[in-house]
Amino acid sequence: MRHTADCIHRSAPMTVLLWGVLPYLAFVLLVAGLVWRYRYDKFGWTTRSSQLYESKLLNIASPAFHYGILFVLVGHVVGLFVPMSWTDGPGITEHTYHLFSLYGGTAAGVLTVVGILLLVYRRRTKAPVFRATTANDKLMCLVLLASIVLGMVAKLAHASGDGYNYRESIAPWSRSLFTLQPDTGLMEGVPLLYRIHAAVGMVLIAMVPYTRLVHMFSAPVQYLFRPYVVYRTRDSRQLGPRPEQRGWERAGF
Ligand code: HEM
Repeated sequence: MRHTADCIHRSAPMTVLLWGVLPYLAFVLLVAGLVWRYRYDKFGWTTRSSQLYESKLLNIASPAFHYGILFVLVGHVVGLFVPMSWTDGPGITEHTYHLFSLYGGTAAGVLTVVGILLLVYRRRTKAPVFRATTANDKLMCLVLLASIVLGMVAKLAHASGDGYNYRESIAPWSRSLFTLQPDTGLMEGVPLLYRIHAAVGMVLIAMVPYTRLVHMFSAPVQYLFRPYVVYRTRDSRQLGPRPEQRGWERAGF
């Protein structure tokens, strides 16, 4: 059985750092950041939406990116957390699994990349959106794009035949993290591209609470039920301070 405390001691220091320390560091930064943000910056917990500045391109780019990334994340949960024995049992061969993952994962990845490239194009070419872009946004976007592109490059570079079977290395390693006995040795033989992708992915996870990505933890479920927010200009006759009134006001239409 490889799941012993010895596994971690036998691995090289860099391996231990990357696959035995970084995952927990990323998790601590994620949780601590979320708690801190909730307690001290509740009103900053937002996408800082730029929809008011430009909405035509956003209406295409944003769903493309969000649906794409959602499929990618579902793919990761299945790929990393469903053990091989569960798919071998009902007779799903490695080849069938590989084809499904290759076509499904690549389609999701392409949709995500198209979405994010359109979002970057919009941010760069629409002046008000660009002015509302901070250094934090740019860094986050770079790491996000790097995670996605590196995932796709790793996958496509090892796509021939049955592809690289990460379900015998990366997947059991990621599950070993939950037992607090990280089997870092499993990551030693993993192709470099996959290792770079996973390391950058963990950095991105750690960055979530400190960037506008924090909005992923407040899924807008209430949007489905709340009334529309109506934006309208003030009546020119009413310029100046508004007289205070008690109770409900007529909407004027
Ligand atoms: C944090 C640890 C992560 C691990 C261990 C991991 C692992 C993997 C693995 C094993 C693959 C290859 C799947 C295959 O060959 O069939 C992959 C692909 C991919 N990953 Fe990750 N990943 C991580 C984080 C992320 C993050 C944070 C993102 C994006 C925000 C991301 C985006 C992608 C994309 C776009 C692909 C290619 C398409 C796909 O298979 O879905 N990954 N990842």
